[in-house]
Amino acid sequence: MRYSDELIEEIRSKNDILDIVGSYVHLQKRGSTYFGLCPFHNEKTPSFSVTPSKQMYYCFGCQKGGNVFTFLQEYENYTFKEALEVLAQKAGVELPENDYSEEDKRKDTRRKRMLEINKEAAIYYAHQLRSPQGEAGYKYLTGRGLTDETLLKFGLGFANVTSDDLVRYLRQKGFEDQLMIDAGLAGFDEKYGLHDKFWNRVMYPIQDANHRVIGFGGRVMGDAKPKYLNSKETEVFDKSRNLYGLNLVRSSRAGYIILCEGYMDVIAMHQAGFDMAAASLGTAFTSGQATLVRRFASKVYLAYDSDTAGTNAALKAIGILKDIDMSCRIINMEPYKDPDEFIKNLGKDEFQKRIDDAMDSFFFELKILERDHDLKDAESRTEFLHKAAEKLCEFEDEIRRENYIVATADKYSVTADQLRRLVIQKAAKGAGLKRELPKPSTVKTVTNEDLVLTKQRYLITWLSEEPSIFSIVKKYIEPSDFTDPLYMEVARQMYADLEAGRLNPAAIISTFDDENDQSKVASLFNTTLVIDNGNDRGQALHDVIYMVKKNAVESRSMSGTVDAESIIRQMNDKKALEELRKANITL
Ligand code: GTP
Ligand code: MN
Repeated sequence: MRYSDELIEEIRSKNDILDIVGSYVHLQKRGSTYFGLCPFHNEKTPSFSVTPSKQMYYCFGCQKGGNVFTFLQEYENYTFKEALEVLAQKAGVELPENDYSEEDKRKDTRRKRMLEINKEAAIYYAHQLRSPQGEAGYKYLTGRGLTDETLLKFGLGFANVTSDDLVRYLRQKGFEDQLMIDAGLAGFDEKYGLHDKFWNRVMYPIQDANHRVIGFGGRVMGDAKPKYLNSKETEVFDKSRNLYGLNLVRSSRAGYIILCEGYMDVIAMHQAGFDMAAASLGTAFTSGQATLVRRFASKVYLAYDSDTAGTNAALKAIGILKDIDMSCRIINMEPYKDPDEFIKNLGKDEFQKRIDDAMDSFFFELKILERDHDLKDAESRTEFLHKAAEKLCEFEDEIRRENYIVATADKYSVTADQLRRLVIQKAAKGAGLKRELPKPSTVKTVTNEDLVLTKQRYLITWLSEEPSIFSIVKKYIEPSDFTDPLYMEVARQMYADLEAGRLNPAAIISTFDDENDQSKVASLFNTTLVIDNGNDRGQALHDVIYMVKKNAVESRSMSGTVDAESIIRQMNDKKALEELRKANITL
């Protein structure tokens, strides 16, 4: 059981796709469709589309698509029920306390409980920090310069030395032992039974972009190892899709983001007024996080540690950002190790200056390269310039490449002409080519079935964009002529809608539960129609209808059933096909 189709449809129709998607993705109008960079895969040119007339989004690059519900499920990682609740509230629609599919209900409850237990733990830790047994933690954090206001803002807390007080607290709040273990808050062993995972540490709750606590980092107060203990990944905690501080960055008006390495750095920067600072979660910066970053900011600054490990991590991050065509600038923290120390010693105004003076990532890479070369030695200097020329090949944009050639030549005292020639030489040898060229074995071959399905999608898209052709199409094609079961079901619903004079593609999507199915349905309504202006549209429609019908007839005759009914059907099919072949369609 689920909510009634009418209710789901009411909520869907009261939330405009352009409003919902537009609040997450920067969209630009092109004809009747809006385009933007796809939030679901890394790309440099926009192939993500939103079509208000269909109330649908669809990415031509990664083939993800759907309606407002699907979007929130994919983007916010919501279950269908959560997406429905959010959109119902937006539209001012009251949801009945309802019977719901058992599986969805279980998943939903599980996530809710997981979030609740994390929240409750955060409350407990925060309370501990302010009680006598938390004094050590409070002293440690304030000793590092954090104000009470900052402690509150980040929800910092303390796990005290008692080994099972969180467990006892959570039990008393009604949480099951197994949930505490699954959430990574407690462990079990023979000797101690159920015990707290974190103890004698200051606690940093990790929140998602919606301010929900999804995990924790716990730091020792001295030099003991390991310095940090981080929650393991759970249903609600996906490290590669979250950043520490993102919940705050989201409301920053800076227009750029500062990425750093440590929790403490994020906190110190925010306290100093840099409300656009975030950090990856105890792991290296990932391409998933890069996609996330791009949702919130168009410019990136890196404030990584100034030691060797930090520099290497910065170089990796530069590469990951470059892959999605985001350039970045590198903030020089020297002579200090990280933003926290820097701000503590030189203050926020100096830090702002360092932001303003941040180095272009390309020259940062060259600077690192310089370290391995002696620019006063002819041989070493030659090698350096060759490497620089190879790097210059990586700029795809011609004007940008030229500008960097001139700037590099200037900086390293060669003429731009010389350097340009070297770059052309390197490019001719293949420098700067994209690393991931598709391997022959993975290139998809287009089968006859693909072609047929393409024609079927084409017909469905055409019908949705020009419902007036329905009176012609239905003369020749029935829903059962669509060979894929999902296509057939979509056609069946679409025919019923068209008969009733109200086609509603986005509503059809909601009748499918599975997100992959929803994307597939969206693809049916988003096939690119290419009918050249000069061409005969009637002839084009005839060709598509004929292809679809012919394939349907052939696949039925190949099914091999020989009862009377199917023989009659086959005879009728042949006749209909022959008539269709001769028919003249004009539009
Ligand atoms: P402070 O030493 O308190 O200033 O911490 P920091 O936040 O500056 O951390 P640091 O620069 O040493 O490390 C950067 C990040 O790496 C931390 O915020 C953690 O997310 C992660 N990290 C550091 N040490 C450990 C560790 O021992 N275990 C794990 N799992 N993660 C760690
Ligand atoms: Mn630090």
